[in-house]
Amino acid sequence: MNQEQATGHPPRKVGRHPLIERTERATVGQATVENPRMSCQNVAVYYDSKKAISDVTLDIGRNEVIAMIGPSGCGKSTFLRCLNRMNDTIERCVVTGQIFMDGINIYDRDVDVVPLRAQVGMVFQKPNPFPKSIYNNIAYGPRIHGLVQNRDETDELVVSSLKRAGLWSEVKDRLEMPGTSLSGGQQQRLCIARAIAVNPEVILMDEPCSSLDPIATAIIEELIDELKQDYTIAIVTHSMQQASRISQRTAYFHQGNLIEIGPTDQIFLNPLHQLTEDYITGRFG
Ligand SMILES: Nc1ncnc2c1ncn2[C@@H]1O[C@H](COP(=O)(O)OP(=O)(O)OP(=O)(O)O)[C@@H](O)[C@H]1O
Ligand SMILES: [Mg+2]
Repeated sequence: MNQEQATGHPPRKVGRHPLIERTERATVGQATVENPRMSCQNVAVYYDSKKAISDVTLDIGRNEVIAMIGPSGCGKSTFLRCLNRMNDTIERCVVTGQIFMDGINIYDRDVDVVPLRAQVGMVFQKPNPFPKSIYNNIAYGPRIHGLVQNRDETDELVVSSLKRAGLWSEVKDRLEMPGTSLSGGQQQRLCIARAIAVNPEVILMDEPCSSLDPIATAIIEELIDELKQDYTIAIVTHSMQQASRISQRTAYFHQGNLIEIGPTDQIFLNPLHQLTEDYITGRFG
């Protein structure tokens, strides 16, 4: 039973008092879900001695789109990169805490990051196709990971991945052209197709639409909505409209802390924390 059901009153906003507002950093809202796809426990991230993420505990649900929002520099990308150990590639970046997936802490020493990054794929802000043909952008990963044995299987996977990413009809006659010859929105769908091709379970997206026009953005948003049937998607976005259009849960970050997590509608219509309210009403950030 939540506070509202228990008392008949809506929950009190946390941090109403300006002093509390500045000091209260414990997460409010429901950070756990039943049977999570990934479960982050007390995750902290340091760049040298500078703490960029403090003590984040958060479940990522199955087949959900979870949006991560917050002011520039609050740690959204840093946190997202924890989910597939992408921060390992940044020198002097240290991650502490645990992130469980299928009962295994992905930070255990014997976890191989190569299959992990296929299982938890990533799409970046700027589309970054390989300097290869459209076909080989998709075929490369499955070949490296041994998911295809011959040309027929590769062809099949290339076609199905491009279809799933909603790009097939636009590229089927030019598969040998460079990936970079596509428009920005097409390149981003190519990158999504590339992530899909290696059979991921989770797809991380860091502001995937920020370099796209509204039409390309709408196509990607539609695609994200379809993909959640098969995948879990964690997306960082600066667009609150986008978060409310496509996500089921939203996490609000502020200065490295996870301030609030809850159903997207509630975060935008009735946030519990003063800092969340300040951000979504444009008073901060
Ligand atoms: N490679 C790095 N080396 C050192 N500090 C970093 C590095 N990347 C990020 N930081 C610092 O960590 C903090 C969080 O940065 P991060 O990029 O995660 O924020 P963000 O919320 O994604 O911001 P934006 O919305 O601008 O993309 C910032 O203070 C940033 O300066
Ligand atoms: Mg970022």
